[in-house]
Amino acid sequence: MIPVKTEDEIRSMRESANLLVQTFKHLEEYIEPGIKTKKLDKIAEEAIRFGGGVPSFKGYRGYPASICVSIDEQVVHGIPGDRIIKEGSIVSIDIGVLLNGFHSDAANSYGIGELSEAKQQLMESTRTALHRGIRKCRAGNRLYDISNAIQTHVEARGFQVVRELVGHGIGREMHEEPQIPNYGSPHHGPKLKPGMIFAIEPMVNMGGYEVNVLEDGWTVQTQDGKPSAHFEHTVLITDGKPEILTLGIEN
Ligand code: MF3
Ligand code: CO
Repeated sequence: MIPVKTEDEIRSMRESANLLVQTFKHLEEYIEPGIKTKKLDKIAEEAIRFGGGVPSFKGYRGYPASICVSIDEQVVHGIPGDRIIKEGSIVSIDIGVLLNGFHSDAANSYGIGELSEAKQQLMESTRTALHRGIRKCRAGNRLYDISNAIQTHVEARGFQVVRELVGHGIGREMHEEPQIPNYGSPHHGPKLKPGMIFAIEPMVNMGGYEVNVLEDGWTVQTQDGKPSAHFEHTVLITDGKPEILTLGIEN
């Protein structure tokens, strides 16, 4: 069963998502060449705790940090460390916040300085694919309408969606039903209802969709070493237009 949130629960989800947006806005000031990824982790964790929240990722299945920082060929789940942010990179930052018993989850990819034309197109296609998916978040549509909208947009631009990782329902748990693949057939899957809340997160590769997990047990990277981008929003299904609870992280 896909959970349907009450008005009270939705209010709490909005508060959690607001703290997440504030965290991104604060962190963005520091995302520039020369900074170590572990510094970004520290800044984000402090912002979350300052707002009364807890980083959702820290300790999740043993994950050792508060955020994920995934650079270029790293797709998702990059562990912050001594790596230094450099010009020309795509830096994807994924953050989860737990506030008053509710999780919110969002990710944004940042181009550092001048990006190649191909990397710019990859980022823009991934961002737009996310919004194509969000547009399908309407009561009465079916789940894989979202998946199909994302896949169609990405493949029309010559890129590939990652298959092995999916979006998800979110609320009292960071990962709730349903799983939301970034590929699928339209008019299939469960019907969407007002009060459902989804974390939609296309991961898009410039080359093939195949990925591997590094020896650290977390970092997912492209098999062919080509770059990847990732954008994610927490989205509420309503009676009308979808409400993007994490609106504002993309500036
Ligand atoms: N935002 C990711 C997700 O939705 C990251 C969670 S993995 C973690 O699954 F270990 F870093 F928490
Ligand atoms: Co997520």
